[in-house]
Amino acid sequence: MKANTPHPLFIMMAVVALGGALLTVKQRAPEFLPWIFVLAAIGMIYRVWAVQSEDAAARGEGQVDHEALRRMRLGDYGSWIKENVRGQDPTVDLIVHAIQRGLELARPGRSLGSFLLVGPTGTGKTFLAQMTAMALWPEKEPVVLRMNQFKDPQDLQGLLGVLGGADTGSLTGALLEDPCRVVLLDEIDKCHPDVLHGLFEALDGGRVRDRSSSKMVDFSGCVFFATCNAGAERLRALKAAAPAAFAAKARDTLIKDAGYEKAFLARFSEIVLMDALAPLHVAEIACLQIAKQWREQGIEVGYLSPELLAKAVALNSEFGEYGVRQLARCLRRLMDPLLEQARRQGTKVVSLGFDPAKGAAVLMLPSERA
Ligand SMILES: Nc1ncnc2c1ncn2[C@@H]1O[C@H](COP(=O)(O)OP(=O)(O)OP(=O)(O)O)[C@@H](O)[C@H]1O
Ligand SMILES: [Mg+2]
Repeated sequence: MKANTPHPLFIMMAVVALGGALLTVKQRAPEFLPWIFVLAAIGMIYRVWAVQSEDAAARGEGQVDHEALRRMRLGDYGSWIKENVRGQDPTVDLIVHAIQRGLELARPGRSLGSFLLVGPTGTGKTFLAQMTAMALWPEKEPVVLRMNQFKDPQDLQGLLGVLGGADTGSLTGALLEDPCRVVLLDEIDKCHPDVLHGLFEALDGGRVRDRSSSKMVDFSGCVFFATCNAGAERLRALKAAAPAAFAAKARDTLIKDAGYEKAFLARFSEIVLMDALAPLHVAEIACLQIAKQWREQGIEVGYLSPELLAKAVALNSEFGEYGVRQLARCLRRLMDPLLEQARRQGTKVVSLGFDPAKGAAVLMLPSERA
């Protein structure tokens, strides 16, 4: 029983007192009786409305505006994502298209999209989820859950709250603040299976109770991404053998050959392989990262020589198994001496080349450009 529900004895005494008062009024001033009933009815209607609104707020109801979601159009978001996430164009197209369809069909009990991104390290899985979140709702942070922190079945409490606990769960609490979010379950292959089971209802876009506050959380305004490394080789082999059948067979391949649970994979609308990046795409990413490193120092890169890019790709290939995870560090090592030099000279726009004799990156004069 809620703490603010009156005790039955109190209600009985109130009824007796009210009945007595009404009888007295009926005998002494019967003309007031209808007014008393009208006022009582207005009071009751107001009370019922107030209780319903309180309950709805407590349940977290009415917060996902499905009508507004159905009106959302993604337009050119795909191009913006592809400018940042290189070498994964088909995946970006598939995801943007699926989210647009999810938005058009937005309704309770169904998430806007749920994507399992499988691939080796450093191919842009986490990055793609973050860029999609930025494109979709630039003003909101995605909910990023590092699933390797949930290795014990008890850890589900951290996500959904704990009975009698003071703090809401990290997932449910974030959704209570704003239910239209991108939720990233990063590295799901590293958490306890029971934790994943506890998230099935959420992944389906259903409603889950935050155990600390007892409020219901609606997941029908969410886009889910889950990332993992396990199974990437199997999916690569499947893609090479039967590219046209990939979408249809990916789920079965992960269940049979990579030990994934059928019920878990059933939660995802799309399973995607984000495979190792080709050297051309590594060069494009190097371009972006070099420009970013200089821009952070207030300097623009006006020109970047092909020799320098080739050097960057060659350096990155020494850490091949890490994808482009080590690329930023390799570039920093190449760029740091030049950044210092350009800062001393007060240059605002630089041309960058590579001197094979020195084996180092150099600042070029405009006349030196090919
Ligand atoms: N395809 C890409 N396009 C542009 N930048 C990329 C791409 N892939 C990776 N990067 C860069 O590398 C960084 C690390 O990538 P990310 O964290 O997405 O790798 P991951 O695939 O999630 O790897 P892991 O499996 O180890 O978690 C990103 O922050 C980004 O700067
Ligand atoms: Mg990652």
